[in-house]
Amino acid sequence: MASRDGKRLAGKVALITGGSRGIGKAIALAYAREGGRVFICGRKERDLDLAAGQIRALGGEVAWGAADVSRVEDVTRLTERVRRVYGTVHILVNNASILGPREPIVNYPLPSWEEVLRINLTGIFLVTKEVLKMMMSQREGSIINISSGVGRIGKARWGAYAASKFGVEGLTQVVAEEVKEWGIRANAVNPGGTRTSMRAEAYPEEDPGTLPSPEEITEVFLYLASAASHGITGKSFDARDWLRQSH
Ligand SMILES: NC(=O)c1ccc[n+]([C@@H]2O[C@H](COP(=O)([O-])OP(=O)(O)OC[C@H]3O[C@@H](n4cnc5c(N)ncnc54)[C@H](OP(=O)(O)O)[C@@H]3O)[C@@H](O)[C@H]2O)c1
Repeated sequence: MASRDGKRLAGKVALITGGSRGIGKAIALAYAREGGRVFICGRKERDLDLAAGQIRALGGEVAWGAADVSRVEDVTRLTERVRRVYGTVHILVNNASILGPREPIVNYPLPSWEEVLRINLTGIFLVTKEVLKMMMSQREGSIINISSGVGRIGKARWGAYAASKFGVEGLTQVVAEEVKEWGIRANAVNPGGTRTSMRAEAYPEEDPGTLPSPEEITEVFLYLASAASHGITGKSFDARDWLRQSH
């Protein structure tokens, strides 16, 4: 349901992890265009400041905080700041992630395995745990976890990244069941191959011009954040099924 001025996220607050570039930034821009107040985090302050400038240039409302989602103290500081700035969170997009080495398991370094799982999976656990406290008290919320094709079918040389994304799909289902009675929803989205720095790192030989831009895949994220998806929870979506033209 849209507000009187037609904006689908009017009055809503969205926290988007990894909102400083790539898919997370495109989601933040799309939410701001639809009247949402957005809070973005990432590790690099300069990228966050630049992304926030782009959102403001559109007339959007944005705040940011540098945070590593895998660090408990960062996540506590982050969610306290969001609460101070906007009072609550209605929409959480768990998007931050790293690729890790494209090595077979037999050669996969243990420190990389632990780092990828800590950021891609434990990070979602930490942020979700804090944000759920706000969502449960207001009996409203939509959690959108970013998965991957290799989080549904494992492939050679995707190591900890694939394992983390299978974890994301499972965690989404667990959370969806646990918080249904509070009116909170949790769904997973596989963006599909998208023109970002992570994709270029994974496929250095690929022509990025053959891929959709992050802006083209935002429709499913708008749907899941808005009242249009009321009652939809515990499901896995593919952003490619919702492709639209670039701006
Ligand atoms: N692009 C694709 O083709 C594709 C396909 C399938 C799934 N995905 C998934 O889509 C999501 C977005 O990917 P992308 O391609 O947009 O990646 P990207 O361009 O590399 O952006 C990743 C974002 O996450 C942030 N980030 C990384 N580690 C973080 C940490 N520990 N704490 C907080 N923020 C962190 C980065 O900022 P800092 O580096 O400053 O922290 C950046 O803002 C990811 O979950 C990815 O796994 C992407």
